[in-house]
Amino acid sequence: MTHISVTVDGTVYEDEVEPRLLLVHYLRERLGLTGTPIGCDTSNCGTCTVELDGASVKSCTVLAVQADGGEVTTIQGLARDGEWSELQRAFHERHALQCGYCTPGMIMAARDLLRENPHPDSDEVRKALEGNLCRCTGYQNIVRAVLAVAEGETASGERTGFAQEVTA
Ligand code: FES
Ligand code: FES
Repeated sequence: MTHISVTVDGTVYEDEVEPRLLLVHYLRERLGLTGTPIGCDTSNCGTCTVELDGASVKSCTVLAVQADGGEVTTIQGLARDGEWSELQRAFHERHALQCGYCTPGMIMAARDLLRENPHPDSDEVRKALEGNLCRCTGYQNIVRAVLAVAEGETASGERTGFAQEVTA
C-alpha cells in the first residue's frame, strides 16, 4: 500500500491505496464521489474526465498514486453555495443532455477548452470534445451550450462570468 494525500473538490484526503488503483476507482469507491461515471474500459468515452492540477484528464487512465500531492476537481466540485456553475446551467438551459451519462465528462472537458481558448468557434468546441462520446444527443446542443458560455450568455441573455469561475 502507498500513502497518498490528495485534495478533491477542496477537501484533503489522506489514504493508503494499492499502487495499481485507478483514480476513477479511488474517487468513486473510496471517496463515494459517484458523480464521475465510468463509461468504458478502453479509455475512449471520456465520461470519467476530471481536472488534475488544472488540466482535464481521463481518470481511468491515471493512477491514484499519480494524484498524490495534487488537486482534483470533479463535477461535484463545480457548484458553489448550491448554485450550478455556468457550464452546468448552460447544459441545462440548452438541453445539452438526455440520459446525462456523458455530461460530467463533457463539462469537465469543456472547462479545459474554455480555460485555454475562451472564445472557441463551433469547430474548436467539437475538436476539444472529440475524446468525449455521447450516445444520445447528436452533440448539437452540447456545442451550443459551450458556445453560449464562451459568448457569456445564458438562455435568458444574462451575461455570465465564466472567466472568473474557471480561474477561481
Ligand atoms: Fe471511458 Fe474513462 S471510463 S474514458
Ligand atoms: Fe446520454 Fe450523452 S446524454 S450519453
